[in-house]
Amino acid sequence: MQDYIHQHKDRFINELLDLLRIPSVSADSKYKAEVRKAAEFIREQLLKAGADQAELCETAGHPIVYGEKTINPSLPTVLVYGHYDVQPADPLELWHSPPFEPVIKDEKIYARGACDDKGQVYMHVKALETMLATNTLPCNVKFMIEGEEEVGSDNLGIFVKNNKEKLKAEVILISDTNIIANDCPSLTTGLRGLSYLEVEVTGPNRDLHSGMYGGAVANPINILCEMIASLKDANNHITIPGFYDDVQELSEQERAEMAKAPFSLEEYKKELNIGDIHGEKGYTTLERVSIRPTLDVNGIWGGYTGEGSKTVLPSKANAKISMRLVPNQHSHKITELFQKHFESIAPKSVRVKVKPHHGGEPVVTPVDSVAYQAASKAFEEAWGKVPIPKREGGSIPIVALFEKELGLKSVLMGFGLDSDAIHSPNESYGIFNYLKGIETIPLFFKHFAALSKA
Ligand code: BES
Ligand code: MN
Ligand code: MN
Repeated sequence: MQDYIHQHKDRFINELLDLLRIPSVSADSKYKAEVRKAAEFIREQLLKAGADQAELCETAGHPIVYGEKTINPSLPTVLVYGHYDVQPADPLELWHSPPFEPVIKDEKIYARGACDDKGQVYMHVKALETMLATNTLPCNVKFMIEGEEEVGSDNLGIFVKNNKEKLKAEVILISDTNIIANDCPSLTTGLRGLSYLEVEVTGPNRDLHSGMYGGAVANPINILCEMIASLKDANNHITIPGFYDDVQELSEQERAEMAKAPFSLEEYKKELNIGDIHGEKGYTTLERVSIRPTLDVNGIWGGYTGEGSKTVLPSKANAKISMRLVPNQHSHKITELFQKHFESIAPKSVRVKVKPHHGGEPVVTPVDSVAYQAASKAFEEAWGKVPIPKREGGSIPIVALFEKELGLKSVLMGFGLDSDAIHSPNESYGIFNYLKGIETIPLFFKHFAALSKA
């Protein structure tokens, strides 16, 4: 198997580069045809790798690629989930090379989607090819690769509810997360949930001359900033009443366990070029980005932002705000609490509108399941180290839905690094991680099939 990967590695890399050349940005309707092209590419490659069948399943949005290989219906089935859509590439001027013209530099592939999630999805396609070519696929496999993860997976949710029979499996396998470091592999055991909203603050009925009216009429941008600032106190606790009510506190023992993961504050600050860290009092950096909920402004606009200056007191100000959630918070409840609170703190001088966007529930995955053990053994065999369990701060909203609708737990076996700059300019994915992933996945199948039998 290792020989096969080694012999074909140049082709494995070149095929991924071809996939990365397709700008499958799900958020932007101008790329609709390209998103479909990426789906078609994966469908064809699944067939070439030896899948029995692969199809595009239409949705109200972008299509879902579904494929399967059945070797024996009485054997267990692994359902592989991933996404072929990518985040918008802007700001374009910060890329060192164009986002959809992948280049290899310093053993890394640079392109939008290189790590999140095309590179990691494609490892599974090449792992399937490898297992079939070397006659080592030990159980059945299904693929469900969607094109709307980066915009909230609403249509996949509908697809899952309507296709429970088709999606029958023993476990879901996902590579869309990170490891701690290449010399310190880890398995992700939790993801945060998400509440995402947009707010609009309206002051006067039109933009005003800031000299004629400034000082007497509320400026919605100033008011919005004050309102946002009031959402956290001096300890960086979120002030929305009820926000922490359902938050699961970890025991001292669990926190001590977490603190064993290698982490250097100095390197962290250096890598991000920040003078200091900033966060909720009483928690470490690793805790702040995994087991604690957050509130962040993702975008804010209003007034004049063009060249030069314009003296204006704007009529409106807007912001996009996200809250990352932890067990046992609920996205809908938190969205409602935010909405109520935000409306309640608005002064009479302005009107406030809160528009909820997508959301998702947090997840924790078991570490005592057959599937987790199989993933752990796969890492141990391929990387020479037992992976450390680690909760991550990002969200994959569909994972909680898989559990609710299909009754299936997921194994979060990702191979990215925090330094891969996903969602940022100059996203990359290490060639080492890509090839090592292709090697690790078949070992998961091997151990999963063996442990399932036992
Ligand atoms: N793959 C990421 C999630 C992720 C990243 C998990 C790093 C763990 C470590 C995923 O594609 C993503 O970006 N999700 C969005 C969800 C949203 C668009 C609904 C997120 O977390 O912002
Ligand atoms: Mn992803
Ligand atoms: Mn993403």
